[in-house]
Amino acid sequence: MKILSIETSCDETGISILQKDGDTVDLIGNALTSQIDIHAQYGGVFPMMAKRAHAEKITLLIEQALDEAFLLDAVDIPIHDVASRLTFLDEKEALLRDHLIPFLTYYQKPDIDYIAVTVGPGLEPALWVGVNTARALSTIWDIPVIPINHMEGHIITAAITPTSDDPKTYTFTDLTFPVLALLVSGGHTELVIVHTFGEYEKIGQTRDDAVGEAFDKVARVIGLPYPGGPAVSKLAAAYRLQARPVEKFTLPRPMLHSGDYDFSFSGIKTAVLYAARDVGEMTDDQKMALASEFETAAIEVLVRKTIKAAKEYHTPTIIVGGGVASNIYLRAQLIEKVQKELPQTTVLFPEPWLATDNAVMIGLAAMSQVFGNTIKTADIKLIKVNGNLSL
Ligand code: KG4
Ligand code: ZN
Repeated sequence: MKILSIETSCDETGISILQKDGDTVDLIGNALTSQIDIHAQYGGVFPMMAKRAHAEKITLLIEQALDEAFLLDAVDIPIHDVASRLTFLDEKEALLRDHLIPFLTYYQKPDIDYIAVTVGPGLEPALWVGVNTARALSTIWDIPVIPINHMEGHIITAAITPTSDDPKTYTFTDLTFPVLALLVSGGHTELVIVHTFGEYEKIGQTRDDAVGEAFDKVARVIGLPYPGGPAVSKLAAAYRLQARPVEKFTLPRPMLHSGDYDFSFSGIKTAVLYAARDVGEMTDDQKMALASEFETAAIEVLVRKTIKAAKEYHTPTIIVGGGVASNIYLRAQLIEKVQKELPQTTVLFPEPWLATDNAVMIGLAAMSQVFGNTIKTADIKLIKVNGNLSL
């Protein structure tokens, strides 16, 4: 049983091939490319530029992932036979079409059972590249498609355990539900109760910026390149290692005591902007101090609310997912506070290389449907993307 998965929701183009082998899932093919270099020049992601970059790269990534999985076999199909069935790409996906048609005439149908594709949330023009790719492969190869919510992928990457003998072979971690998920990425900041995989209840979310977005904006204020999360975090860590820091800033902890599970990060971001403006040309020490205070404030709110929710909903496990889940300070703080206040609770994080966007997480979400006998395929002609898709 093999699944080819596709991720194009933001600025990473990913293709993965996962194989079910009894109780385990093997990652047998994986290709991922980031558009960071393109977007770094502009300090953020522009949807139409992201779309173009996905359309340019995705066919090569499919070829690479299938090749790594030993699933590529050459044939020679008349170009007309392929092109005449992909006319739905003519109008809006001509670039994608021009790459896919030659590929689909060179290679025969691979031994794949399902195609899983991200349908939201994310940037709609970018998501369409993935969905139209899935539609093209499904049309020519006659393989059913499983639409996947990107955020479900972020949750599931923390719920796998590598087997001892192979780091690319996983089992799904045995979980006692309900599980609490803290989702922290460039577009989302949410607390979700996972009743079981596929059944979610959102209990809180950001009212303005996502925490990753705030990291990126603070990075820009300090003069660090996009995406700013890792760079801000590195400066903050250096600050905390100083024996006697010379600079200090104080920022607000928005909604810390709001009594609900919502967040707000635009206030801290604005406070960072004003602090930087007051200082003028910032010294390295000031940049470090500001980065550290921002990270401390943002993570304090995330950790406090997560613990409050775990207490109220009696969740024996807390899962953290999304790009910001690789933040070292968040990991350390959450583990420390949970050990102190909820010693029976387990905290699970994804491996850092699976925390930011990739196609493995999309394939794993589809695999969890296979394992649970809850496979939900959809008519590929009717699949629509939804930039605001909720869990
Ligand atoms: O999940 P992701 O790859 O993409 C979205 O679905 O949004 O998350 C990307 C976000 C970016 O905002 C990036 O700055 C942030 O995750 N990020 C981090 C770290 N690594 C990535 N933020 C803080 N600390 C990190 N170490
Ligand atoms: Zn993401």
